[in-house]
Amino acid sequence: MSLVRKSLISLSNWSLKEVESLFSQSSNFKSKPYQISNKSMGKLVSFAFFEPSTRTKLSFQTALARLGLLSSDLGTLSDSSMSKGESFSETLKTIEAMKPDLMILRANTTAGEQSTINEYSLPIVNAGCGSIGHPTQALTDVFTISEKIEVNNLKILFVGDINHSRVVKSNIALLKKFTGVSFGFCGPAGFLPKAGEYENSHLFTSLEEALAWCNVCMGLRVQKERHTKEGFSTSEYQENYRLTAEKMNKYLSKNAFIMHPGPHVPEMDFDPLIFNDPRCLVRSQVSNGVYIRMALIASILEL
Ligand code: CP
Repeated sequence: MSLVRKSLISLSNWSLKEVESLFSQSSNFKSKPYQISNKSMGKLVSFAFFEPSTRTKLSFQTALARLGLLSSDLGTLSDSSMSKGESFSETLKTIEAMKPDLMILRANTTAGEQSTINEYSLPIVNAGCGSIGHPTQALTDVFTISEKIEVNNLKILFVGDINHSRVVKSNIALLKKFTGVSFGFCGPAGFLPKAGEYENSHLFTSLEEALAWCNVCMGLRVQKERHTKEGFSTSEYQENYRLTAEKMNKYLSKNAFIMHPGPHVPEMDFDPLIFNDPRCLVRSQVSNGVYIRMALIASILEL
């Protein structure tokens, strides 16, 4: 599959070869990030971000700047005429009518709205939509892992609000393309998938046991804004599932790694001391996000 002028909504139709090719191009941009092609001249990328973002939006903007592309930005949901009642599809059609070459979209979309995205005449990249998927974050995460250890036969642990995490869904979709990857899920019962929902998976309610099992531990934010039921106990969560430096040092292998896609909430997710540990890849995830997005945009726009 060529990525030229194609939308990226989910990674399900990507082959492993395409993933590896994007990783190779990302490594190339990482070693030489200032490569402006003559083909960038006059090309325009439009941002439509209807949910907050720090790293995804800024890394796309950084990628565009490094590639010498132009950008336009609708701003936040409250800046847009959706706040006056205009629909999501009318908003996207309005952006489309201004004829950008690519749209980067973050929205709390339903599965139905996502299925209409291929109907627009321009390519659209899903930059994190609802709890459905976040493919560029997953590409960033797996690229970051691949720089450190073999992805085949990986034992990756997700800790926290797994059921509401678009990052987990996209990471699983991507990691399933490799051989022998096992998935661990750790959190309170209401945050965990059903037993057997994912192949090669293990459910843990003890963080200590889960840390001893994995070779990559990925923390997740508790997504209270997507919860429909009451009954979540912050203090119990902090006691049992917040990763402290003490638990990390006692249970996590010296050869294992710690990741977090962000946003990171220190009183719920990780003790900030963990960021100083050489096994922590959170800053590399952010840096690599720029190279992955440069490679993706360059492929879609044929730069
Ligand atoms: N990982 C991620 O999507 O972070 P932001 O919400 O800050 O973009």
